[in-house]
Amino acid sequence: MAVINNDLLSITDLQVKYGNVQVIHGVNINVKAGSVVCVLGSNGAGKSSIVRAILGLAPVSGGSIYFDGKKISGLATHEITSSGISIVPEGRGVFPNLTVEENLRTGYVFFKKDTSDLNDRYEEAYQRYPILGKRRTQKAGTLSGGEQSMLALSRALMVRPKILLLDEPSLGLAPNLVDATFSRVEELRSEGLSVLLIEQNAVKALEVSDSGYILQKGLVVASGVQKELMGNEAVHRAYFGLK
Ligand SMILES: Nc1ncnc2c1ncn2[C@@H]1O[C@H](COP(=O)(O)OP(=O)(O)OP(=O)(O)O)[C@@H](O)[C@H]1O
Ligand SMILES: [Mg+2]
Repeated sequence: MAVINNDLLSITDLQVKYGNVQVIHGVNINVKAGSVVCVLGSNGAGKSSIVRAILGLAPVSGGSIYFDGKKISGLATHEITSSGISIVPEGRGVFPNLTVEENLRTGYVFFKKDTSDLNDRYEEAYQRYPILGKRRTQKAGTLSGGEQSMLALSRALMVRPKILLLDEPSLGLAPNLVDATFSRVEELRSEGLSVLLIEQNAVKALEVSDSGYILQKGLVVASGVQKELMGNEAVHRAYFGLK
């Protein structure tokens, strides 16, 4: 039986099965409004499958997902996204042959019928990251890695979501850009946005998170508030290099 609580996002006993291969084996994840929650795990642990399940894009074979008081598991993807969920996908998904502004546009017109405030949303994005305004007519493929990260994030923010799903935002970035990425997560948090942060960079992700979950082979093997997880010996050994 599904339990409705006060969490913004509540995933209960989630199971995902590709054909007859089950990859998520009964996962529970909760995100309170205004908090940053990380899901940490190595390659193939099932992190993206959880993200895809939230969006109605993975074959969910059991469990339930509630968002903002409403059951979203079983709904079509466009219904799920229009309830206030936005994603920066793994690899960022910037369209290299579209301009910066055209990329931002895709983050809006695919999700909203009424485009009357599209121009305001562009301005919001350019105020947040002025470099994007400077490059608004430039093809996204010509941007630096850091600028492309800002663009991917801004595109996801175009619909003013209630929660942002970030699937490995730091992957493949140079160290200075990795730090900038996590600083941006902190900025979003200070603005009151809720974030589900999927990461392999456990140390940095936990630093900017209120709580977290450690995923191994489709199972949550540890969870808790930031301090508990950082103090958990098994987590420490696996992720922080403690002997
Ligand atoms: N479409 C699919 N069909 C079959 N198996 C899949 C599919 N997508 C993912 N898998 C398998 O499910 C498991 C979990 O994959 P998933 O992409 O969710 O992991 P991940 O934690 O996001 O990994 P990574 O860190 O590499 O992004 C893996 O064993 C993967 O091979
Ligand atoms: Mg993944």
